[in-house]
Amino acid sequence: MMEIVQGDITTLNVDAIVNAANASLLGGGGVDGCIHRGAGPKLVAKCATLGGCKTGDAKITPGYNLPAKYVIHTVGPVWHGGKKGEPDLLASCYRRSLELTVEHGLRTIAFPSISTGVYRYPKDRACDIAVETVSAFLERHEEIEKVIFVCFSQEDFSLYREATL
Ligand code: APR
Repeated sequence: MMEIVQGDITTLNVDAIVNAANASLLGGGGVDGCIHRGAGPKLVAKCATLGGCKTGDAKITPGYNLPAKYVIHTVGPVWHGGKKGEPDLLASCYRRSLELTVEHGLRTIAFPSISTGVYRYPKDRACDIAVETVSAFLERHEEIEKVIFVCFSQEDFSLYREATL
């Protein structure tokens, strides 16, 4: 099932929270910064051993000091107008994160709204891709119990609520 909440993803006690990372996986601002602060320095030390991550792909680490057991780091596309493969790359972030969830036998996962901050992806288009990709995946994978979309802003929350009605 899909759920929408408004708040800070680092507070959620789920199997995995998804990080909107960059290709280096060595931390940054936005939700990346929050997650690294919450997890503690062991997270960046672990990430440094992973050899980075391609846009549209995802890699998993423990959650360390976070309530979540794991962090799934995915690298969203930077918005360049929508004609450079951004929609498929964004969909791939959600799909690859869900594939890792299934591969690791996890059942609950929370997503921030990937690429819609520093990477400037229009929030409404990103929300539609997120909801479509996740619902299509859930139809084929009953083993995933819950996907939570964590909206940091009221604007995001209203978008996701509209999209999932
Ligand atoms: N919990 C949930 N959502 C959050 C949180 C939080 N604690 N902090 C920020 N967000 C939301 C933002 O409001 C935005 O809607 O996460 C969404 C993604 O924004 P960014 O974190 O800026 O991520 P993104 O746009 O994918 O850019 C990634 O930013 O932080 C750097 O290292 C990161 O280079 C990478 C780039």
